[in-house]
Amino acid sequence: MNQHINIIISGAYGKMGRSLIKELKKNNQIICVAALINPITYHIQKNQKKIKKKFSFPILTLEKLKKNTNINFDVMIDFSTPENSLENIKFCLQRNKKIVIGTTGFTNTQMKKIKKYSKKISILCSPNFSLGINLMCLILEKIFKILGEVNEISILETHHSQKKDLPSGTSLYLQSIITNFFNWKFLKKDILNYYYLNTKNVQKKIGSSSIRIGKVIGEHTVILSMKEEIIKITHQANHRNIFSRGALNSVVWINNKKNGFFTMEDTLKEVI
Ligand SMILES: NC(=O)c1ccc[n+]([C@@H]2O[C@H](COP(=O)([O-])OP(=O)(O)OC[C@H]3O[C@@H](n4cnc5c(N)ncnc54)[C@H](OP(=O)(O)O)[C@@H]3O)[C@@H](O)[C@H]2O)c1
Repeated sequence: MNQHINIIISGAYGKMGRSLIKELKKNNQIICVAALINPITYHIQKNQKKIKKKFSFPILTLEKLKKNTNINFDVMIDFSTPENSLENIKFCLQRNKKIVIGTTGFTNTQMKKIKKYSKKISILCSPNFSLGINLMCLILEKIFKILGEVNEISILETHHSQKKDLPSGTSLYLQSIITNFFNWKFLKKDILNYYYLNTKNVQKKIGSSSIRIGKVIGEHTVILSMKEEIIKITHQANHRNIFSRGALNSVVWINNKKNGFFTMEDTLKEVI
C-alpha cells in the first residue's frame, strides 16, 4: 500500500507556494507531484525559456494539467486567487480528488458554491492555517461561554502592503465566530470601520480595522469590551511556515475524509 500522499500545489510561485515547497523538504509523508502557476506567468517564462527543471516535479498550468492524465494525486493545495481556487475545485470535482484551500477573499456567492461542491468531494478551507489563530478561536469560544454576553468587540488586523483582500479572511472568520456564537445579525455599514449588529433591539457591534504596511506577515487582535474591563487577545505570525505546516497537516487529515466542508478548527477539535 502506498503510504505517501501525492499533492499538487496551486499558486506555487507565490509567497505561500514557495513556503510550502520549502516545508515539504522536511516532510516524508507528502510528495509534490506537480505545481500550478498563473498561465500568464507560465507563457512569459516559457518564451524566455525560464521554466527550468529546478524542482523534481513539473510546473504546469491548470489547462495543461487537465490534458495530462498521467499525474496522479490525492489532494490539491491551493494558495492563489479566489477565481482560480474555484477552477481548481471544479477540476478536483471532475477527478474526485480532495482539496485544501488557503486562499482568502471569496465573496459570499463564491463561498456558497464551494460549500455546494463539498457535498461531492472533501474541501478543507481555512483563512488561517496557523495553530495559534485556530487555538485563539477555540479560546474565544470558551471566553464567550463564561462571559455570556459582550457589548463591543473590535478586531484589528495588520498585513503586508501587497495583500489583496481587506479585511483579511481571518478577520472575517473571527467575526463569523462571534456572530454565530451570539446569534447576532449581520448589518454591514462600512467595510473599513464598523459592522453593526442588532439583537433583541439592543445594538451590539463588532469593529473591524485593517492596516496594510511593509512586510508584516499577519497580526490579529480581538478586543472585548465589558462593563469595566477590556480583554485583548493578539496573534502574531512571525513566519509563513506556520501556515504551510498547518496546510500540510490538513492534507494528512483530509486524506482520510469522505466528502464535506471542513476548516482547520475541525482538525484540532479531534485532538483537543
Ligand atoms: N490560509 C492561510 O493560512 C493563508 C496564509 C497566507 C496567505 N493566505 C492567502 O493565500 C493567498 C495567496 O497568498 P500569497 O501571500 O502566497 O500571495 P501571492 O504571493 O500573491 O501568491 C499567489 C500566487 O498565485 C498565483 N496565481 C494567480 N493566478 C493563478 C492561476 N490561475 N493559477 C495558478 N497560480 C495563480 C500568482 O501568480 P502571479 O503572481 O504570476 O499572478 C502568485 O504566484 C491569498 O489569498 C492570501 O490571503 C492564506
